[in-house]
Amino acid sequence: MTERSNIQALIDKAETTHTLTKDELVTLLQDRQYEAEVFAAADRVRQKYVGDEVHLRGLIEFSNRCKQNCLYCGLRRDNSKVSRYRLDVDTIIDFAVKAKSYGYRTVVLQSGEDEWFDVDKMVDIIKKIKELGLAITISVGEKSREVYQAYRNAGADRYLLRIETTDKELYEKLDPGMSWDNRMRCLYDLKELGFELGSGCLVGIPGQTVESLADDILFFKEIDADMIGVGPFIPNPDTPLADEAGGTFELSTKVMALIRLLLPDINIPATTAMESLNPQGRVLALQRGANVVMPNVTEGEYRQLYLLYPGKICINDTPAHCRSCITGKITGIGRKVSETHGYRVKRA
Ligand code: SAM
Ligand code: SF4
Ligand code: FES
Repeated sequence: MTERSNIQALIDKAETTHTLTKDELVTLLQDRQYEAEVFAAADRVRQKYVGDEVHLRGLIEFSNRCKQNCLYCGLRRDNSKVSRYRLDVDTIIDFAVKAKSYGYRTVVLQSGEDEWFDVDKMVDIIKKIKELGLAITISVGEKSREVYQAYRNAGADRYLLRIETTDKELYEKLDPGMSWDNRMRCLYDLKELGFELGSGCLVGIPGQTVESLADDILFFKEIDADMIGVGPFIPNPDTPLADEAGGTFELSTKVMALIRLLLPDINIPATTAMESLNPQGRVLALQRGANVVMPNVTEGEYRQLYLLYPGKICINDTPAHCRSCITGKITGIGRKVSETHGYRVKRA
């Protein structure tokens, strides 16, 4: 077979059977010539399985304090250049109320690993937000099974915890003091407790190979994740990885497109980090397999302080502006903002 027909056969296989071997994934990840065909296939699969609606999730970044020290992240505890904040419970609820008034059906509560928000405080916040009729996604890192159970009992619907990389050695090098086995334990606990499970990986972290990206994609299929967020690693000048090259927009969207081909009915966000590298990043991602966007609903100066990486979009914008901005982008490509809570509907 010619190279083109060989690649096209792999894309056809992925589009029709939603399976690929590790070697086949590596071939597609390495190829640079037929990326447009991969993106077009992912867009067709997205259309067929999850339709044209785009789910919006309002993101509340409620604390930038973190006890962890991930080498890539601007919120890491040893970064003394960042001014730390944490919102009080009333402010978080106020932002959720406003998110509802902007038409969001889900809020995502995200923070560093901040122990001040103990289980009682989180349960209180979750219950109050559930009373508003919103779906809730939690993204606050690694906790015990009992704590996850308490969040779930309080009404939390989804949990986001990226594995970052399935390469255990690399993970433990980049996340000093953290255990890859424990992160895996968290993911399996969350799944068993009935959360919609969100995970994902960072593309372009130093030491990552295409083989390990292929393993990441196969892992997401193995755990039957309900949502996968992929973002390029963007080096932060105030971290030990300041001088590293970082990930590219193209490779991140390729990984995302392959995830759509293998997990056709899941929710996939067009990530903020993608748009931070490419001004059209979220729209392009929506045309390469994504069906979710998570606009920021945090207000005021906090946006500037939740600085994982430089160039983060929307840090000087208001929630109202972001809501109309993203609606314009979505309708501008002939898609529609969903009015549902946007749970995964298993169709595959
Ligand atoms: N602390 C929680 C955790 O780590 O799961 C949630 C918040 S954390 C800031 C959310 C995500 O930000 C991480 O999963 C990581 O993939 C991403 N992130 C951190 N630093 C980044 C960087 N320099 N470039 C791109 N994404 C980054
Ligand atoms: Fe903390 Fe999450 Fe950043 Fe790691 S990625 S330093 S856990 S906020
Ligand atoms: Fe925030 Fe466009 S979504 S300015």
